[in-house]
Amino acid sequence: MIRHASGAVRAALAVGVLLAAGPALAGSKLQKLPTDYVFPRGDGSPGPVMFSHESHVDAAKPSCTTCHPREFRVLEAGRTASREPIRHDRMQAGAACGACHGKTAFGFDSCDMCHK
Ligand code: HEC
Ligand code: HEC
Ligand code: HEC
Repeated sequence: MIRHASGAVRAALAVGVLLAAGPALAGSKLQKLPTDYVFPRGDGSPGPVMFSHESHVDAAKPSCTTCHPREFRVLEAGRTASREPIRHDRMQAGAACGACHGKTAFGFDSCDMCHK
């Protein structure tokens, strides 16, 4: 219960930071997006997966809260909300990249869309 509450407090703080950054970001050209990130490879991963903020954030209407902090941490590069590595069973259940991929964005059938 205590762990849970402190998690919620941390999440609320992170959202506060992002919301406060919102108007400033909207007026800028988003030059401060994190650089492309390559995830560490789990067992049997067919190739490195890169995540690009540039291709996921609409510069005209930046929305950080679609992913942060519910799916991914902002203060630790490459970290999911649970701190667990990204795995397909969790993505198929809607976590991490699976919040969109397999639903509103391309799914997991073509491995080389993500694994290079
Ligand atoms: C489509 C989902 C998505 C959106 C939208 C998104 N992010 Fe991220 N973010 C991620 C993922 C995935 C990671 C983990 C990979 C990484 O560390 O770059 C991450 C990591 C980060 C990190 C930590 C990486 C580092 O280098 O310190 C910061 C800071 C961050 N995001 C800021 C933002 C901001 C600011 C916005 C809005 C302008 C934003 N993100 C929008 C998915 C997203
Ligand atoms: C908030 C929704 C959302 C999340 C979360 C998300 N994506 Fe995407 N992603 C999209 C959309 C929308 C596109 C555009 C293509 C499409 O519509 O199918 C896209 C495109 C991509 C592309 C092709 C463009 C490029 O950058 O090369 C890759 C690769 C990709 N996503 C990987 C990932 C990975 C890996 C994660 C998790 C770390 C992730 N995405 C999380 C919505 C999302
Ligand atoms: C939408 C992006 C995306 C697509 C498409 C995708 N993966 Fe992944 N996959 C990831 C991410 C992100 C990871 C975590 C980083 C890593 O382990 O390389 C991952 C990890 C893995 C892992 C190791 C962890 C686990 O779940 O066992 C395997 C194995 C894997 N993928 C196989 C595949 C195969 C096979 C395909 C095609 C049938 C595929 N992936 C398609 C994003 C994707």
